[in-house]
Amino acid sequence: MMMHNLSVGVLGGSGYTGRELLGLLGGHGGVHVRFATSDSEAGQPSGARGLPLIPLAQAEPLVAGLDVLFLCLPHGEASPWVERLREEDVRIIDLTADHRPGSGRESGVVYGLPELTPDAVRSAKVVANPGCYPTGVILSLAPLARAGLLDPSRPVVVNAASGVTGAGRAPKRELLFGEVFGDYRAYGLGNGHRHLLEMRATLPELELLFVPHLLPVARGILETIVAPVAPGVGAEQVLGTWLEAYGQSPAVQVMTKGVPSLANVVNTDLLALGASDNEGLRSPAVTLVAALDNLGKGAAGQAVQNMNLMLGFEAERGIRC
Ligand SMILES: NC(=O)c1ccc[n+]([C@@H]2O[C@H](COP(=O)([O-])OP(=O)(O)OC[C@H]3O[C@@H](n4cnc5c(N)ncnc54)[C@H](OP(=O)(O)O)[C@@H]3O)[C@@H](O)[C@H]2O)c1
Repeated sequence: MMMHNLSVGVLGGSGYTGRELLGLLGGHGGVHVRFATSDSEAGQPSGARGLPLIPLAQAEPLVAGLDVLFLCLPHGEASPWVERLREEDVRIIDLTADHRPGSGRESGVVYGLPELTPDAVRSAKVVANPGCYPTGVILSLAPLARAGLLDPSRPVVVNAASGVTGAGRAPKRELLFGEVFGDYRAYGLGNGHRHLLEMRATLPELELLFVPHLLPVARGILETIVAPVAPGVGAEQVLGTWLEAYGQSPAVQVMTKGVPSLANVVNTDLLALGASDNEGLRSPAVTLVAALDNLGKGAAGQAVQNMNLMLGFEAERGIRC
């Protein structure tokens, strides 16, 4: 099937996720980027060859005839676009949290985890691209919960650390180089981080305690998950269950020896998973380690995976695995 005439647009082309996405779309070869927006950098190169960024106000008339529109906007800015375009032909991949499970605006929207819900994504009109932290947590735990390996009577503890691009490109004092460099800190304490909404909605049978941390690196997420397991369950069963679930997926790599670190995943669209047994516990728990690039599998890479499903491309097309 010839699909080179398929066209896409990007709202928010100057932000971290938008720029990453434009880079991936440029190397995809099956789609043409018709426009990308930015108000602050209008007229500057977009990252797609020969295509300057245009102001957001000029985008709406250009949406007609697009196959897919990507929304790489701040939270709250995507939902008006989705409402306006719901009845139009264009299909939408929304990278914001506006329509993710638990948002209250998820009706008629497919939560786009390509490894878990590919059929729903294929036929979706609007896809809510998952958050970066939830991608690692949900893909680690969902197959284990489904296989009955976890003990749901005890909480799953997630210690998650992200590089600073996770907070977006708009300047913030606490993200200045002088504040972040050489430091390492927990934030969002109290188990109320906004990403818990989609994790809880997707893993309702589990009690989650989520503790995010800020890492003094530009990009990358490492999640260390202490998973209470049923009696007799260990890392070997965990690895076997993941291999069964993700053996065919180009974007999930299961490490059968050792556990992943950021070096395995930064500047890729991979999620890397590893598991370890623990000695000396009265109640058994397996430590799971998930590593991903927040801008790759945590955002733009996953958005391209979703686009590939929606438009009928090969699963690995345009992603860095
Ligand atoms: N960063 C990550 O690791 C990550 C991962 C997964 C999901 N996400 C989600 O993806 C979305 C984009 O994140 P990001 O990190 O790329 O953010 P960002 O770096 O702050 O970029 C935001 C983009 O939106 C535009 N913009 C800013 N204010 C706007 C407004 N009021 N109306 C319309 N456009 C506006 C900006 O360009 P102009 O100001 O020039 O117009 C920029 O292109 C967010 O909802 C974020 O939560 C981020």
